[in-house]
Amino acid sequence: MNQLELICALPKAELHVHIEGTFEPELMFAIAQRNQIDIPYQSVEEVKQAYNFHNLQSFLDIYYAGAQVLVHEQDFYDLAWAYFEKCVEDRVVHTEMFFDPQTHTERGVAFATVINGLQRACDDAQTKLGISSNLIMCFLRHLSEDAAFATLEQALPYKDQIIAVGLDSSEVGHPPSKFERVFAKAREAGFLVVAHAGEEGPAEYVWEALDLLKVNRIDHGVRSEEDPVLMQRLIAEKMPLTVCPLSNLKLCVVDDMAQHNIRRLLQQGVKVTVNSDDPSYFGGYMNDNFVAISQALDLSNAELKQLAVNSFEASFISAEEKQKWIEQIQALG
Ligand code: HPA
Ligand code: ZN
Repeated sequence: MNQLELICALPKAELHVHIEGTFEPELMFAIAQRNQIDIPYQSVEEVKQAYNFHNLQSFLDIYYAGAQVLVHEQDFYDLAWAYFEKCVEDRVVHTEMFFDPQTHTERGVAFATVINGLQRACDDAQTKLGISSNLIMCFLRHLSEDAAFATLEQALPYKDQIIAVGLDSSEVGHPPSKFERVFAKAREAGFLVVAHAGEEGPAEYVWEALDLLKVNRIDHGVRSEEDPVLMQRLIAEKMPLTVCPLSNLKLCVVDDMAQHNIRRLLQQGVKVTVNSDDPSYFGGYMNDNFVAISQALDLSNAELKQLAVNSFEASFISAEEKQKWIEQIQALG
């Protein structure tokens, strides 16, 4: 099997995808129209031209603006369903997706509207497409600790539908320590925890996510390589990093895919996984990310398989489910 055939054939779990970041311009236009909301673009082409960001903040400004057209439960359903259809194409058989309730509740959309729409899509994905999924609720780190506590409170009635809490948005200047108490309360309530760290922020933020937030996974974490002691800790603890290659390229975390450190991290024994982050904005879904690194870094079939194995090992599914998928991967050529 050549690399492309293998990438297409591998079952994969996606562990780092923001559902609001899967919002394709065509669907954005359709939903804006039916909700009679003005967006500052005349055409799909104009939307795409606006995607010329080169750091996290310039991306986030456009990403939050796009999410403003989501109002009704059906909008959230349609958004998630469109993503599940991409999962089918890419043989993503399990996904743990982030949603940002504060982006919506801040403009008067009820928490229930957001989660009910997403949950209905997740249920349909299981029954109609055979794709399993979990929801991870992210706190926006540029907002206050109080706002995060209030969001956690709103999530408690939906505890059974939310597997974990996470931390996203503008990283630099908003270290994990800002949310230490919120995460302690979330863990007490029984949520698993993840956090974006070491994307634009320094390795120090990864230490904080581990020591203060007590995360089960690090999202991004690519800057951990700057700290050899941290690297040893990640390897020893088998701490997963959910790496997003096309995102890193688009937001200039790396200058060139050939310089991406995912292969070095893998070779050193870090449990790295491949993910799309915000695929509508960053130029591709799961398999596009696999193809980009495979070509730029000349990955072997064994390395591609290891990345797929890691995605299940790092996921929150049962040991039996993990074993089932890993056996399927190992049986491939
Ligand atoms: N980083 C931080 N916050 C985000 C991202 C990201 O890549 N995507 C959506 N919110
Ligand atoms: Zn992200």
